[in-house]
Amino acid sequence: MSVPFLVSAPGKVIIFGEHSAVYNEPAVAASVSALRTYLFVEPSEDPEEIELDFPDINFNHKWHYNDFASILQDAEGLEEARLNTRELSQKIVSQLEVVQGELRNTLYYYAALCFCYLYVCLCPHIKGMKFHVKSTLPIGAGLGSSASISVALSLAMAHLSGHIRADKPELSVSEKKFINTWSFLGEKCIQGTPSGIDNAVATYGNAVLFKREMDGTTNFEFVEQFPQIPMVLTYTKIPRSTKTLVGNVRELVIRQPNVIKPVLTAMGQLALRGTEILDSLDDKNYEELLELVRVNHGLLVALGVSHPGLELVRFECDTNALGATKLTGAGGGGCLLTILHKTTTQEQVQQFKTKLESSYGYKTFQTDLGGIGCGILPRDLIADDKLENIKSLFCQEVSNDRIDQLLLPGKTDLHWIH
Ligand code: MEV
Repeated sequence: MSVPFLVSAPGKVIIFGEHSAVYNEPAVAASVSALRTYLFVEPSEDPEEIELDFPDINFNHKWHYNDFASILQDAEGLEEARLNTRELSQKIVSQLEVVQGELRNTLYYYAALCFCYLYVCLCPHIKGMKFHVKSTLPIGAGLGSSASISVALSLAMAHLSGHIRADKPELSVSEKKFINTWSFLGEKCIQGTPSGIDNAVATYGNAVLFKREMDGTTNFEFVEQFPQIPMVLTYTKIPRSTKTLVGNVRELVIRQPNVIKPVLTAMGQLALRGTEILDSLDDKNYEELLELVRVNHGLLVALGVSHPGLELVRFECDTNALGATKLTGAGGGGCLLTILHKTTTQEQVQQFKTKLESSYGYKTFQTDLGGIGCGILPRDLIADDKLENIKSLFCQEVSNDRIDQLLLPGKTDLHWIH
């Protein structure tokens, strides 16, 4: 392995089944391949340091290699953590709490915990490395930013340790499985009790029907030939925390099990029927898809994870009879997905987008769903004349358009291995 190198992972949109996925109900999600996290790894100035630089959230931190000494000396503890990849090792989490020092009381604590947990487990002998993160995905918006970061870190650290060599045209099935497994643990550091759907989509890409089993294993099937659906994604910019929202739903389930459990079951049924329709979408069942979107949003409102700012988008969509809108991701703010009626004109879509952007200050996207998952650009696939340009993206403030122009898989002549 040589440095520098680059990795990336996409965001995701949950089409049906957020929240119920945490309770082992099936859910369907698709990658948003055009909105991605990029991670550039290069040697740091100080050969004894490990640095994480994440300017999108104003976070930069350097750890000294010796900070991890006691964890790294505990070979047995590390081996145990590597063998039991279903759960975080509480021993390592407690040891890392001490390492984080003053970070413990900041917003960055969970991101730092994810980084350090993956670091000590995956590439503990590496030092003198700087990890720069840039994302064209809105952060904390329900589009899977934390999972895509976790996937990018797992892939980068697996490459640093030599576990993923990136010397073949594609990542193998077992390499992707490895990334998926470790990014799930990274997600656990950030989100607490994730279902695993976000990191699965960020790893594998495409669209997946996902189900977590009672024993903690996960099953997913790819949705064959995911159809292009006319849709608008709206980012409300209303901040929220997935961890808190998932925790609130958990309390509601405990308070009202007989009422809420059937809601979660209905969401799972919705995801199954939705997948059948997506697999064979035609003019006849298209409106049924919209009906399911509307019902899924209603059930999410029942779980208490909507927000007045989200309902405004639904109001605009329904008032103008454009299609069906549901929140996507954990809710409480963040993003919504509007699937448009076949008859909705481009002019109506434009008016909808303009209204949301100019009256409410929201951001809208019209982007295809599905597409590639995580990828790596090892050092020997980065031409010398491109390296400086790539590096410059991570050293200054640059627009998302500029990042897309230089890095977006499929849109540039870079040979991403994915
Ligand atoms: C978050 O994108 C989706 C949730 O269902 C949590 C999860 O599945 O991990 C709210």
